[in-house]
Amino acid sequence: MNEIKRIAVLTSGGDAPGMNAAIRAVVRSGISRGLEVFGVIRGYEGLIGNEIKQLLSADVSNIIQTGGTILKTARSEEFMTAAGRLKAFENLKNQDIEGLIVIGGDGSFAGASQFAIEHNFPVVGIPGTIDNDLYGTDYTIGYDTALNTVVDAVDKIRDTASSHNRIFFVEVMGREAGFIALRSGIASGAEAILIPEVEGQLKKLMKTMAGRGKIKKSSIIIVAEGEREASIWEMADLVRKEIPGSDIRVSILGHIQRGGRPTAYDRVSASRMGIAATEALISHQYNVMIGLVNNKISLVPLSQTIKMHKEVNRDLLAIVDLLT
Ligand code: F6P
Repeated sequence: MNEIKRIAVLTSGGDAPGMNAAIRAVVRSGISRGLEVFGVIRGYEGLIGNEIKQLLSADVSNIIQTGGTILKTARSEEFMTAAGRLKAFENLKNQDIEGLIVIGGDGSFAGASQFAIEHNFPVVGIPGTIDNDLYGTDYTIGYDTALNTVVDAVDKIRDTASSHNRIFFVEVMGREAGFIALRSGIASGAEAILIPEVEGQLKKLMKTMAGRGKIKKSSIIIVAEGEREASIWEMADLVRKEIPGSDIRVSILGHIQRGGRPTAYDRVSASRMGIAATEALISHQYNVMIGLVNNKISLVPLSQTIKMHKEVNRDLLAIVDLLT
């Protein structure tokens, strides 16, 4: 097998704090192993548009502490087409780039996997999404920072909730998954947590709130963005009707969850994953995602991360029932 000499890295989909630490690790570990490393600007869009530039060690100085991604990111419609992927392949070939590292979530990996098969091109994925919803890894880059951002925000909301004896519904990100809601809800002592993975929660919430109305004046209810039983506004209305005279507010945390300085945990894990991704390409282990399982690096076929569904931790669900 030929020795790999030139690799590229890109970030795709929603940005996540710690992506820069992963880029830095890919660049510096690649250079130290004698590779030339290239950065693709704006994810697959930049790959198609040939926005590819060499990255030197100095180009990734002073970025480990920053949120966002220095490579920019995008959600690319064109990469979903065979014609788009062909353009991307030709651009890589023209620059003699022999391996690609994709930092992103499940949508980005679906594209990466398709591209790898279609063009027989070596690809390695690094899980980067605040949602933590990727099969094959306990943890995705950005999740820890997002959790801490949510907990910090909810602590602040609790101050005002308790001062006014209010019930707050707080919506957190997670388009299809409740990982952020579940863990941040436990960490912030939420009275109820509603996530898309669990059914029948609305009924349970109504029962809990009916009981709580008499004993506790202020409450925090965390709702995952992907919750489908009712919208957060409908839930607030239902509880308002259930507890006459209750003072209810809805707070949607939104994109603040995606920004900010990455936590130490995100920086270290992203660095480990970046190095592992470079090593995987060098050792010809392709079309895999770098995962962290029980705090150890593991390699999972990209096809599996796309097909399989990551389950929420049932032990954590039990904690919610016990402590609320
Ligand atoms: O990155 C994942 C995610 O944060 C989801 O939780 C959220 O629904 C989505 O991104 C928002 O994406 P956008 O910024 O493209 O609207």
